[in-house]
Amino acid sequence: MSENRFDGMTAVVTGAASGIGEAIAVRLMAEGANVAGIDVAKDALERMADEFGRSFLSAPADVTVETEVAAALDAAATRFGRIDLAFNVAGASRVGAIVDLAESDWDFTVDLVQKGVFLCTKHEARHIRAGGRGGAIVNVASLNAVVPMPAGSPYSTGKAGVVMFSKTAAVELAPDGIRVNVVLPGLVDTPLVAPVLAYEPARDMFLDRIPAARPATPEEIAGPCLYLASDDASYVTGSSLVVDGGWELSNYPDLRRLGG
Ligand SMILES: NC(=O)c1ccc[n+]([C@@H]2O[C@H](COP(=O)([O-])OP(=O)(O)OC[C@H]3O[C@@H](n4cnc5c(N)ncnc54)[C@H](O)[C@@H]3O)[C@@H](O)[C@H]2O)c1
Repeated sequence: MSENRFDGMTAVVTGAASGIGEAIAVRLMAEGANVAGIDVAKDALERMADEFGRSFLSAPADVTVETEVAAALDAAATRFGRIDLAFNVAGASRVGAIVDLAESDWDFTVDLVQKGVFLCTKHEARHIRAGGRGGAIVNVASLNAVVPMPAGSPYSTGKAGVVMFSKTAAVELAPDGIRVNVVLPGLVDTPLVAPVLAYEPARDMFLDRIPAARPATPEEIAGPCLYLASDDASYVTGSSLVVDGGWELSNYPDLRRLGG
């Protein structure tokens, strides 16, 4: 592992209080960066601030609310003096068959996974551009951007939008020296999917499809995200990196067969 690739840099991580976002934040700090963690989970952010001290800023915000996003980014820039890197990771979903899905569940999910990435990228890019040194933004979508999740239409649709949004942002922000890439994780062992992994029939259906025969650890997603933000990826922009243990090759399980 390269050490200190991000010495002296400031990174913003949304969804930093748990799972993949937390793993990204911890790895960034281990490699020399200061991190502003954005999340709705204030208590967890405070615990991280206590644990990591001056390197970590707790910047609570709901990524779907532009005023909160802008204030959190301003707080990060004030505290650390610069913003170089951003990782847009916050996400969750509400599920349901299309014929039964409530409009509010669609709006909740698409707002969170898609509009949240737009709002964060908008304000992150303004700060990175103001620094005049360029930088990188990594958006976390999902394998479901390219492989449909039955009963997960708002999530799959929202995540597919994140891929195209990232490509568009890569083109728009290239003149400012800002690279934008997107990571598509498969199944990752985090609190988000803990109920699925705890229910053996569902877990078995997933693992049947994954050639690696196990979920990823959050750290196994953080590594590829940090690669895309690093100088090793200096000529990589607008690309989509699938990190799924080969799952894309074997399709998504249809959990509706479990009933209930
Ligand atoms: N776990 C997986 O299998 C998996 C697979 C593919 C993609 N992903 C994606 O990875 C990302 C991280 O997921 P995770 O598995 O680490 O989940 P997680 O639940 O462990 O972490 C998600 C974090 O996002 C935060 N969050 C939720 N809504 C928010 C909001 N409106 N504003 C700010 N923060 C908010 C939560 O508080 C939480 O800390 C998500 O975008 C998810 O869709 C996860």
